[in-house]
Amino acid sequence: MTLTQEKTLGNLVRQDFPILHQEVNGKPLVYLDNAATSQKPLLVLDTIRNYYEQYNANVHRGAHHLSSKATDAYEAARDKIANFINAKSRQEIVFTRNATEAINLVAYSWGMNNLQPGDEIILSVMEHHSNIIPWQFVAQKTGAILKYVELTPEETFDLEQFKKLLSHKTKFVSIVHVSNTLGCINPVKEICQLAHEKGAKILIDACQSVPHMPVDVQQINCDWLVASGHKMCAPTGVGFLYGKLENLESMPPFMGGGEMIADVFLDYSTYTELPHKFEAGTPAIGEAIALGAAVDYLNNIGMDKIYVYESELTGYLFEQLGKIPEVRIYGPLPDNKGYGRAALASFTTGEVHPNDVSTLLDNEGVAIRSGHHCTQPLHRILNAPGSARASLSFYNTSEEIDIFIKALKETLDFFSNIIG
Ligand code: ALA
Repeated sequence: MTLTQEKTLGNLVRQDFPILHQEVNGKPLVYLDNAATSQKPLLVLDTIRNYYEQYNANVHRGAHHLSSKATDAYEAARDKIANFINAKSRQEIVFTRNATEAINLVAYSWGMNNLQPGDEIILSVMEHHSNIIPWQFVAQKTGAILKYVELTPEETFDLEQFKKLLSHKTKFVSIVHVSNTLGCINPVKEICQLAHEKGAKILIDACQSVPHMPVDVQQINCDWLVASGHKMCAPTGVGFLYGKLENLESMPPFMGGGEMIADVFLDYSTYTELPHKFEAGTPAIGEAIALGAAVDYLNNIGMDKIYVYESELTGYLFEQLGKIPEVRIYGPLPDNKGYGRAALASFTTGEVHPNDVSTLLDNEGVAIRSGHHCTQPLHRILNAPGSARASLSFYNTSEEIDIFIKALKETLDFFSNIIG
């Protein structure tokens, strides 16, 4: 594959990420664990430091200068997220601790109050644990039944089987946009349309899509969408829930406390307007403001450009991995230009355990994840105890892929000499 001009994006932006410029085990760090968490650019680091150095104060509570400055910055971050995913209204964006909390918010506030015995919830077998366990809680409490969309032979979302699962009993659907293990990009617009035709509500887990491609909630037409800040260049401890206004309006608060009230009496309380109704307690203020800065940073590059660059990098990764006979990659293949799947490859290597692969790669300064990636049911279906996963970001380069591939080949040679 020839490298195009776009391929220089990784080299151009690397100076913005101080953490990338270090040695690990005496070798230059090659960070390929971006699906677990992304690295943070200087703009984000400076923003959070500036908040704590210059205007740390609680939000929505004080008339003093620092409090109003913090409140303005916190609410500006909400506007940035609303624009980033094309929400109709800023009231549709609720700050949460992460995507997991956002899913639990919908499970407890909507699921527990709207589902009845016999109602059906449709998930897919490729869901992350955070999009399975909350719905198990809901099913156990309400008597609703969980149904799962399986995989096609190409290890993608089986749309035809989904159509068969849908019925008048389907009340809720929750599906991942981009699988953190298979890397497939699910046809969420069509999935939402099909769910809505049956009158079901639908949530999209966008943790692995929002940082890597343009995402437009009005175009997808989902009822809710969740994402985590730390996967999109922001700090840990902050994420968001998008919900259509009419859905959020109909839902009771998830947690009670300060921030979310209108009036409190000893025997009852009234709640404030959206989105604050769902933001009980002091939020992660500096982290939310830094999430706004992360959105600015991504917008400055352009999500279209990130998607193009990461796709071409994916093409190169697959081309190189494809030359190693022992490597079995899970999920669909990209097309010949690298498009059609996310910028990650989960793989096994014959008899060599994924944990051994990642440990030996770490000796060479290459950081990849191994294990079940919080998708245990999927790994059981794939008949794999776990997998090794290299996941890319726009600050990675083809040179880093070369280092990874070289280290992987050496690792496999090492084990092949031991096993014989
Ligand atoms: N869900 C994250 C991952 O895929 C943590 O690694």
